[in-house]
Amino acid sequence: MQSVPIHATIFHSRLPRPSAPPSERKYPPVAQADIIIADDKLLSQAVDVYNLIFRPKREADFFKRRFMGRYNALTLLARMDGKPVGFWIGFELKPGMFYHWLGGVISELRRHGVGRQLQEAQQAWAKDHGYEFVRCECMNHQREFIHFAVSLGYDMVGIRWDSTHADNLVVFEKNLIE
Ligand SMILES: CC(C)(COP(=O)(O)OP(=O)(O)OC[C@H]1O[C@@H](n2cnc3c(N)ncnc32)[C@H](O)[C@@H]1OP(=O)(O)O)[C@@H](O)C(=O)NCCC(=O)NCCS
Repeated sequence: MQSVPIHATIFHSRLPRPSAPPSERKYPPVAQADIIIADDKLLSQAVDVYNLIFRPKREADFFKRRFMGRYNALTLLARMDGKPVGFWIGFELKPGMFYHWLGGVISELRRHGVGRQLQEAQQAWAKDHGYEFVRCECMNHQREFIHFAVSLGYDMVGIRWDSTHADNLVVFEKNLIE
């Protein structure tokens, strides 16, 4: 299986956020992950990362079912030293708009720029495929993602009550053309 490297830019101008003395740090302040497009065969690695982060645990079929009838489904995998450390999944919501459905980074590697790399890779891919907007949503209690989305330049464009999760769902959009 051939991995497809995908372009992603890291903003090196960010201030490093060392949380421990250099000798104790496991990862550099800005980690450099390999971002690859996961095909059917690599989907299981994204599912493994999903199951480290979210509950209930899911099988690959859960994701495949969500992709059915979707146009331009894209699963990105972040790997460091060959180990999957993050995933990012999206597909077309409607012409001109790409939807970021699900994503996450393993807890020990958060705040090292991997989410940013995944998001930038998804955004670059969406732009290359003619999309003008990316939309994403999260629950109000998923504060990490709210901070993340605002920090990466998404606008909050809506909020609605989600009775399944008994929480408000916050809707974000980013214009890829401006
Ligand atoms: C949201 C998530 C994907 C972010 O991934 P990450 O790799 O930690 O994000 P980055 O390191 O690229 O962060 C980029 C910027 O977002 C902001 N940010 C990210 N996490 C933040 C947090 N917990 N608190 C405040 N700001 C945060 C910061 O501005 C950060 O830049 P900085 O570290 O230089 O200050 C990760 O926290 C995660 O997997 N959370 C659990 C799963 C989840 O909630 N998914 C969303 C619903 S699908």
